[in-house]
Amino acid sequence: MIETLDITGWHDAIDGATRDRAVHALERGAVLFFPRLRFDLGNDEVRFLDPAVSNGKAKNISLNPATGKLQATSLAGADAAALGAMIECFGASATKLVEELLPYRHVERARTSFRPVEVEGRHYSKTSDDRLLHVDAFPSRPMQKGRRILRFFCNVAPLDYGRRGERHWLVGQDFENFAQAFLPRAKTHTPGKSWLWEKLGVTHGRRSRYDEMMLSLHDAAKLDDAFQKNCPKTALDFPPGSCWLVYTDQVLHAALGGAFALEQTFHLDLAQMVEPARSPFHILERLSGKTLA
Ligand code: SIN
Ligand code: FE
Repeated sequence: MIETLDITGWHDAIDGATRDRAVHALERGAVLFFPRLRFDLGNDEVRFLDPAVSNGKAKNISLNPATGKLQATSLAGADAAALGAMIECFGASATKLVEELLPYRHVERARTSFRPVEVEGRHYSKTSDDRLLHVDAFPSRPMQKGRRILRFFCNVAPLDYGRRGERHWLVGQDFENFAQAFLPRAKTHTPGKSWLWEKLGVTHGRRSRYDEMMLSLHDAAKLDDAFQKNCPKTALDFPPGSCWLVYTDQVLHAALGGAFALEQTFHLDLAQMVEPARSPFHILERLSGKTLA
């Protein structure tokens, strides 16, 4: 469920045994936990630990690393640029570490996010409420042939917040058991709709059967109160000054509380995995008996 790695520096060389342990645990659905990997904010950056830096519209402030564009912040001008630089520095550091730690040839660095708003008291519709257990599936970003969603998180609450600064997660049962229970409820594939949504620009690329199935599983899990209440789950509390890395398309997770996190999303083709058969794509093809892309 959780594999602890005692890495302390963002640029540390990592030995072969640790790399093996990391990739096997990750692909089997563990959360890699780095209890002593701190991301230090500069003296001039501590001011960004404030929910008011968000514009209040989106869940997170996000940075597109390809364009440098920052979304959903209330800041402007030099302040926005300084916030962007902090998020970029984290994203670049996380990318270097993931490239050093994992044996994959190419991980694509996607969006970097800053999450400065306390999770606990927010209000969302059920399907967008990440306090409910779910696997990640992005409505507008199809993963088509089962590209993976790998996410690196860092709790940047001040160290002296102690327990008050923890980010509280739940993680659920393994993907295969979950999929077995929910697959019968997955919506049927509608190729015309995927085509139209791509044409209209609702999605970046066309949704495959796999994407539709993953979105169905995401929604069905969040909408099932009995499942949320009764399914086996484990609480994980990530303290300030720690990081964690997880395949969020595979591991059922929920974020119950916590105020300040940075996050970097990565994508990779599943053929790069050491054990591709463990990917949601292959598990769903096997369970459904269908070709999903
Ligand atoms: C999520 O990916 O569901 C949210 C995780 C978090 O913000 O801690
Ligand atoms: Fe999620």
